[in-house]
Amino acid sequence: MDHERVLVLIPTYDERENLPRIVGRVRAAVPAADVLVVDDDSPDGTGQVADDLARTDAQVQVLHRAGKEGLGAAYLAGFAWGLERGYDVLVEMDADGSHQPEQLPRLLHALDGADVVLGSRWVPGGAVRNWPAHRQLLSRGGSAYTRWALGIGLRDATGGYRAYRRHVLEEIDLRRVASHGYCFQIDLAWRALRAGCHVVEVPITFVERSWGSSKMTGAVVGESLVRVTRWAVEERAAQLLRVARRQPVRVQPGSAPRSRARLVELGGTA
Ligand code: GDD
Ligand code: MN
Repeated sequence: MDHERVLVLIPTYDERENLPRIVGRVRAAVPAADVLVVDDDSPDGTGQVADDLARTDAQVQVLHRAGKEGLGAAYLAGFAWGLERGYDVLVEMDADGSHQPEQLPRLLHALDGADVVLGSRWVPGGAVRNWPAHRQLLSRGGSAYTRWALGIGLRDATGGYRAYRRHVLEEIDLRRVASHGYCFQIDLAWRALRAGCHVVEVPITFVERSWGSSKMTGAVVGESLVRVTRWAVEERAAQLLRVARRQPVRVQPGSAPRSRARLVELGGTA
């Protein structure tokens, strides 16, 4: 891990108060990592705050986008930026402090034996702090439905604290990712698994924001439900077709079977 170039992507929409704090914590926790803030022209001036941070620190850069297009679109633009510049590892992290930079070494360490590492709230050792009951229910329910519908083993498929090796993002055809909202997270996990990537989950403590508000909406939930259900139907249809043609189930070379998603227990909290 030591000689690899790590880029931490932080998407922002109205995170003026949170941004300096999170960037400072990332820079302190993993000094070798670079930071890219991806701002959708936040009305509260987060973009200028990001520019100020970038001016005083060469390891902080800013990608300004024209307007709010959703978390998925922001990450796709950020990934393209990072891949172009040769980063080996691309990390997703919320700006609001929910994803603790102090736990990033744990994610990066797990990447030694994996292609994708998911920070997971719903595995042993994982936790959430100050999250209202309805959000916990939504997150657990969303992950359970996804697990059942897609037949995957991930406990926290919707989480947004992750580390990808660059080859994963190169193998997944990012141009075909159409998810706008948080469904983007499920979309990428599902694509990585289908590409035969080794995806592991490590426990994290998710801390609800104390400043600003969530951008989660009913439309964001609706998009996830519709897309996951569509992917599940497509997958079942493809399976039936294979059975009908008596074709063996295709397994990518070098990949483990579908149950390859597994949990890495590193114990303790950072
Ligand atoms: N650039 C940009 N554009 N950033 C956005 C947008 C957007 O349209 N929408 C949200 N963000 C940023 C926020 O500013 C924040 O840094 C991060 O994305 C997460 O947004 P929140 O609104 O704080 O998400 P949450 O706390 O409700 O949701 C959490 O749980 C979801 C479900 O598990 C996050 O961890 C999500 O990543 C996760 O998918
Ligand atoms: Mn949040």
